[in-house]
Amino acid sequence: MYAALIENSSITYAQAPEPSISGDDILVKVETAGLNAADILQVAGYYPPPPGTVEDIPGLEYCGTVEKMGANVTKFKIGDRVMGLTAGGAHAEKLSVNAATALLVPDILGKKAGGFSEAFFTAYDALVLKAGLKAGESLLITGAAGGVGMAATQLGIAWGCQVTSSVKTESTRKRFEAYFTGHKNVISSQRDTHDSLQTAFRNGAQLTVSTPETEHLYREYDIFLELLAGAHLTKDLAMAKKGARIAIIGLLEGTSCEIDLSQLLKKHVAIFGSTLRSRPLEEKAFLTEHVRQYLLPLVINKDLDIMIDSSFPLREVERAYYHFKNGKKLGKILLEIDEH
Ligand SMILES: NC(=O)c1ccc[n+]([C@@H]2O[C@H](COP(=O)([O-])OP(=O)(O)OC[C@H]3O[C@@H](n4cnc5c(N)ncnc54)[C@H](OP(=O)(O)O)[C@@H]3O)[C@@H](O)[C@H]2O)c1
Repeated sequence: MYAALIENSSITYAQAPEPSISGDDILVKVETAGLNAADILQVAGYYPPPPGTVEDIPGLEYCGTVEKMGANVTKFKIGDRVMGLTAGGAHAEKLSVNAATALLVPDILGKKAGGFSEAFFTAYDALVLKAGLKAGESLLITGAAGGVGMAATQLGIAWGCQVTSSVKTESTRKRFEAYFTGHKNVISSQRDTHDSLQTAFRNGAQLTVSTPETEHLYREYDIFLELLAGAHLTKDLAMAKKGARIAIIGLLEGTSCEIDLSQLLKKHVAIFGSTLRSRPLEEKAFLTEHVRQYLLPLVINKDLDIMIDSSFPLREVERAYYHFKNGKKLGKILLEIDEH
């Protein structure tokens, strides 16, 4: 098969052995697969996959067709279109995954399904399962124009929250605003005195699109989805409501910061971090089942969707990785693996 192969800390289009499957696995003929920051880090040698995962093919999410099934698999049949998370190996024509971590693709997603899982599983796990997001709460999402941030913004709106999504680059912010003013549940949209777009939704949700400089002007926050962390954590504590929860998911602004610990005590703030890739199979299966039950109905109802910034054929994988590293994208970058 052909795959995106890591060779000498760079990525190339090359041949690789097909994966084998065991009793609980399915072999997927991959159609599309999303690109993530973890792939870039893995190629550079900074983020090795967990033991038991193919080491020289990146790729954490996919959609495709079930081609073979292990003897114990009853959840799917040959030819089903599936999607899901994997710890690596998705940037290839064939992928072996445990059937418990795969989901049937809702027709409405089409090829975009390859970019669904990393963003939506991560956002749902952090906001709903870990931070306990509830209707009416205020939520700040930093680095909001990427895959996870756009998914989290949509979740916050679907949950009826007061969402502030902070976007650094002006041109990306304009595209982000246009995407959300086109949401089917918008009632009204207007600019405020700081030039931030305020949008109201039918279910009572409110979205403010801020810059990193203006995010503190709007509200104190119950929940922070930190894709930046680093020094931004110091600002979070100043903006935190009593009982706030800070979910650290990304470290785009660095791995350390100085915080006034007395603020944690005074405001009863909880800070936690999480990654999905190294979780045990049972936890991944649990999360997969939650997404099937609670998110896929929202996808089918067009409350949630995936914004695809751009797609590249697998043979142009170097160009796709280059585009990701360049930044200033809105949403996800996809590799089109089966071009037919
Ligand atoms: N813990 C987990 O399980 C998990 C899962 C998925 C992702 N992540 C992590 O979460 C982070 C976001 O993932 P993603 O897929 O959404 O990435 P992404 O698509 O690359 O988006 C990142 C966004 O953050 C913005 N950004 C970067 N540096 C910034 C800064 N210093 N200040 C303000 N904005 C900044 C980027 O804007 P520009 O493009 O304009 O620079 C971009 O819009 C990554 O670090 C990723 O590794 C963690």
